[in-house]
This record gives sequence, structure tokens and C-alpha cells, in this order.
Amino acid sequence: MTIRESVAEPEDGSPSPSVGAVASTHRSQWRLAGGALGLAGLVLAVATIGPLYQTGSAVWASLADTAWAGTPPASLPIGACINLGNHFETPLGGEHPGKRLDAGDMANIRAAGFNTVRLPVNWRSQSDPNPPYQIDPQWLARVSDMVDAALANGLNVIIDSHHFFAVNTDPDANTVRLAAIWKQLATHFAQKSPKRVWFELHNEPHDSLTNDNLMKVLGPSLAAIRSVSPTRPVIIGGEHASHVDSLATLELPSDPYVFPTFHYYEPFFFTHQGATWGKGKPPPLGRVYGIPGDAERLVTDTQKVRSYIQRTGKIPFIGETGAYDTAPLPQRVKYVRAVHRAFTPLGVSQCYWGYTNTFPFYDYKAQRWLPGMLGAIGLHDPVPPAVHPTAAAAQ
Ligand code: BGC
Repeated sequence: MTIRESVAEPEDGSPSPSVGAVASTHRSQWRLAGGALGLAGLVLAVATIGPLYQTGSAVWASLADTAWAGTPPASLPIGACINLGNHFETPLGGEHPGKRLDAGDMANIRAAGFNTVRLPVNWRSQSDPNPPYQIDPQWLARVSDMVDAALANGLNVIIDSHHFFAVNTDPDANTVRLAAIWKQLATHFAQKSPKRVWFELHNEPHDSLTNDNLMKVLGPSLAAIRSVSPTRPVIIGGEHASHVDSLATLELPSDPYVFPTFHYYEPFFFTHQGATWGKGKPPPLGRVYGIPGDAERLVTDTQKVRSYIQRTGKIPFIGETGAYDTAPLPQRVKYVRAVHRAFTPLGVSQCYWGYTNTFPFYDYKAQRWLPGMLGAIGLHDPVPPAVHPTAAAAQ
């Protein structure tokens, strides 16, 4: 998440004036119509799809082929998911200077109960800016090693193209380059099971990349992947940084292996307090979670997701959610618990941002999961704190 305007938060707890919220007002009529479809369709959809979501992961994870056999699922078997953020997606390229990701981290994440990792990668900075846009082989090998380590530890992997900003600011000029990157990645990972390795075309479309031109810009990337892997799941999020409001007008191709996603950082003034990377002034520190309006907002936002499920029959997942560690830990625990409880009954999985470095779940220096965070998302909270496998091995 990078693009919210930091203006004053409304005192009545109504939605913060994010880019997405402002832009979505013209869609309110549609949302009313969607809501009028009633609860019956939703109950039917979740009752039908829910059991698949619950049991699918173990079944699909055991199959290691290069094409998806059987009926495509209505949602990806994501389960408990964490972003390996702040490792490979630094805006200027290269690895984050903090914790260096290694195979022990994958074992640690799996042991904590996670099923899936989302791996945001800045492919743009590590590829030639000129045709044929070759990805740096060393970079690809390094990321591949981490994909293999995740798979070896029983984790599914979402490989995401992150911080290719020019796709947002000048989409037409960068469509071909993005597709060339995905063609290379599809080829490189062609032998990985489509039941375990999934591609996310472009993190958080924004600026000039909107729902109106989304598939014009991302379609060639999808076609490049399809020329190699007809059944590899491909994930696409909508405009305004994949804000929940983007779902209202998100139109994806009829490809059964394309899956929707959105990001959830509401209320932005809580999750991004003190964050310096948005537009404008950082939201002020000290915003607590649970003030009047916060619970109501979750109800409203889950209804938007229900409407999307009713309209499309596909269940999106939350590709990013979490709160900056400028908020005290008990507050962050409270927030992730609220998000987990609100969206899980819809079959909507959450990928938390992130594992370590910033927005952490895991304190790599102390080698422990931050108290309360795992329990808040339905996983076992280790007592005493888990020992990092790499540290244990070194003893
Ligand atoms: C960005 C990170 C940021 C996170 C939360 C991600 O999409 O890449 O740099 O910390 O969102 O704002």
C-alpha cells in the first residue's frame, strides 16, 4: 500500500477519505443494487464453496503436476497466509537490508501453521529495461531458491510483481515489458505445480491503471503465461491499490484460473499511522483501533465482498492486511483479530503483511512470534516462544 492521501480522518469514524473511498462514491448505486440481491445467494455460495475451501489445500498440495486436473476451484486454497514483504520488493531494487530470507524462515512459517506465503518481488528493477527485458539470472535464482524452500516446507507460493510503478503511471508504455517479464517467469516456473505456485500480475494498480483499462494492460501478461501454463492460477487485483471498493467494478476475464484479490488496510489512519511512504503527511501517531465506527466499517466492507461473491461466484482473498508497528502490539493484535473474524466466515483468506522486518508478526532478532499475533488469526500461539529452526540448528 503506497498511495493514500493523508488528509484529516473524519471524526465520526466514517471511512477515511482514501483515494479508493472517494473514487467509489459514483458506484454507490451499484452497491445498493448488489445488496438487494439478498442473503440467500450468499448463503448458497458460501455453503457450496466453503467446504471446498476448507479441505482443498491438503488434497491439491499433494498433487505435483504441471496442469490442473479436475474442476477449477471457486477460490484458491490459500488458508493462513503471510507476506514475505520487505525482502525482495524494495522500491529501488535489491534485497531489504534487514533479515535475509532463508530456508529456515520457510520452516518457521510452516511450523507456525501457515499454508501459503505471498512473495512480493520487484522484477522491474532486476530486469533489463530494454527488449527482451531479461531478468537478472542471479536474482531469478535467488528468488527461485526461496520458492523451492517454501514448497519443500509444504507452503503454497504466490509470486507477485511488486513496485513496477511505471505500469501505473504510464500503462501503455509498459504493457509489453510486464508481459515479457511474465513470459520469462512462466517459462522458468513451468514445471512447478499449478496447485502450489500462483502468479499475481501486478501489485496494487493505481494512478492511470484503473478497472477500465486493467485488462487491456494486464491481458498481454495473462496471455504470455497462458502460452506456457494454461491452468496456472493468476491473481488480479483492482484499482486504487486493490481497495475493497475496487471489487464493485472489477471485471476479470472468464478464464477459470484467474482469481480476484483485494487489500485491506482500513481504517488507513490506524494501520498507517506514522507511515511516510504515502502521499501527503503521514497519518498522526496514536490512533487507536476500536473507536466508534470501526466495527461498523468492517460490517460495511464485508458486505461489499459479499456483493462481489454474489455477482461473480468467485471468492476473493485479502492479499495484504496488517498494521504498521508504529501502533502498539496489543492494538495490532486487536486489529488483525477483528479483520480475521470479519472476513473468514465468507471464505475470504487473509495474507498478513508481513512476516518480519516491518509490520512484523515475527521478531527475528528475538527469534519469536510476537505474542498474540498468531492466536489472533486462528493459529497456535507458542508458549514458550518458538525457537527459530536455523538458530536451533546452530546450537
Ligand atoms: C508495500 C510496502 C508497505 C506495505 C504496507 C506494500 O504493498 O510494498 O512497502 O510496507 O504495502 O503499506
